[in-house]
Amino acid sequence: MEGADMERVIGSGGSLKRKPAGSLCCHKKHWFQISLLVCFLLIGWTYVFSVNSLSGWEALPLHGRYRWFFHQIYHSNLSADRAHVTTTIPHDIYKTTGPPTGRPTALQYQQIHPRNYQFIIDNAEVCRNNPPFLVLMVPVEPDNVAARDAIRQTWSNSSMVQGKVVVTLFMLGLSPGTDMEKLQQENLQHRDLIQSNFIDTYSNLTIKTMVIMDWLATHCKDATFAAKIDSDMFLNVDNLIAMLQRPEIPKLSYLTGRLMHNRPVIRLNSSKWYVSEELYPDSHYPTYTLGMGYVFSMDLPGKFVEVSKSVKAFNIEDAYIGLCMKRLGLSPSSPPNLSQFQTYVTKCDRCDLSKCITYILSSSQELLDCWTEFKKPGPRC
Ligand SMILES: *[C@@H]1O[C@H](CO)[C@@H](O)[C@H](O)[C@H]1NC(C)=O
Ligand SMILES: *[C@@H]1O[C@H](CO)[C@@H](O)[C@H](O)[C@H]1NC(C)=O
Ligand SMILES: *[C@@H]1O[C@H](CO)[C@@H](O)[C@H](O)[C@H]1NC(C)=O
Ligand SMILES: *[C@@H]1O[C@H](CO)[C@@H](O)[C@H](O)[C@H]1NC(C)=O
Ligand SMILES: *[C@@H]1O[C@H](CO)[C@@H](O)[C@H](O)[C@H]1NC(C)=O
Repeated sequence: MEGADMERVIGSGGSLKRKPAGSLCCHKKHWFQISLLVCFLLIGWTYVFSVNSLSGWEALPLHGRYRWFFHQIYHSNLSADRAHVTTTIPHDIYKTTGPPTGRPTALQYQQIHPRNYQFIIDNAEVCRNNPPFLVLMVPVEPDNVAARDAIRQTWSNSSMVQGKVVVTLFMLGLSPGTDMEKLQQENLQHRDLIQSNFIDTYSNLTIKTMVIMDWLATHCKDATFAAKIDSDMFLNVDNLIAMLQRPEIPKLSYLTGRLMHNRPVIRLNSSKWYVSEELYPDSHYPTYTLGMGYVFSMDLPGKFVEVSKSVKAFNIEDAYIGLCMKRLGLSPSSPPNLSQFQTYVTKCDRCDLSKCITYILSSSQELLDCWTEFKKPGPRC
């Protein structure tokens, strides 16, 4: 119930985010509604933060929507029209929440090495007989069946795209309330789950990413490319395959996605994105690919796992991969067409969807709706 309240509050924030700059301020007849909305937001926030203990903040099941809301502000370099509408909001939230507990400590991250963990559910053989051209690895929480089902019904439905084998797998950690029997059944039906025995929390996402890398290096070495795709994404697999087949795309040491250049490390210790100087001493991150979706050649996962033994881990998984690249003496590449790696959509536009590779959506329902729109007959542009 607290989660639902929060979702509504953040949901409102989310829709503010999507309005173009200026649309909030200039229509007199809307003042009354806007005042009401502001009051509602204030009351909502006050209520939510007074009833939630601080540890509740980390535990709230909000990851889909507000994660990107904050990510956009802190981790991406998007156009100012979006940023200035929202910039002050998270700071206000953080002021009222105070520091979240359960923050990763150096000790916790001394041992991110994926071989410290064991697989509970595995599909170790999926790449064996017919090595895929592309493996799509989707980190998702064990209980988020809706996200997995939406993906299964949409972009992961085809296992053959332009004559290339594509495999989609979901990577899960452990969650205390999960009905393991149901999960096993889901896997029997779809054969697409991999579950490891770390606790599946937001702050453990770097562990999850490294477990993905280890799994790929161990079980899918003969694949050509892999990608880490978040579960709240629209993915145009056709365009991704077409991009990867372009002659200028290297098959080795290649990592691409939406590049983040020279992003400052968040030292505001009440922020969800806070990283201590102890974990990461520099003031800026090396260039990295935004975690929503990045694509890499299959020689890299094994190299990431190897180099991670000597790269102190921190809880920002995409920036950590950027740091591993740097330690390997490599840099991420800009994709051939940057505008194909989109972040937010304001509405599902068939024409846009037909040209893009990634889009961040806000819910599994939105993915299903966008897909219906995308697939309906008739010209797209
Ligand atoms: C953001 O991007 C612009 C160009 O798109 C660049 O000039 C600017 O330095 C970038 N800022 C940061 C903090 O990366
Ligand atoms: C998934 O693909 C199969 C054929 O491979 C097709 O029959 C089915 O309609 C597809 N489902 C959706 C939801 O697109
Ligand atoms: C994962 O995160 C939780 C809390 O966020 C923590 O208690 C746990 O030790 C972490 N690590 C592993 C390996 O599960
Ligand atoms: C957060 O930072 C403030 C000052 O910058 C400091 O007083 C406080 O102890 C810090 N809190 C934690 C939990 O590190
Ligand atoms: C790049 O992608 C955008 C849309 O994602 C498309 O409109 C544009 O035509 C593409 N540019 C090239 C050179 O292919």
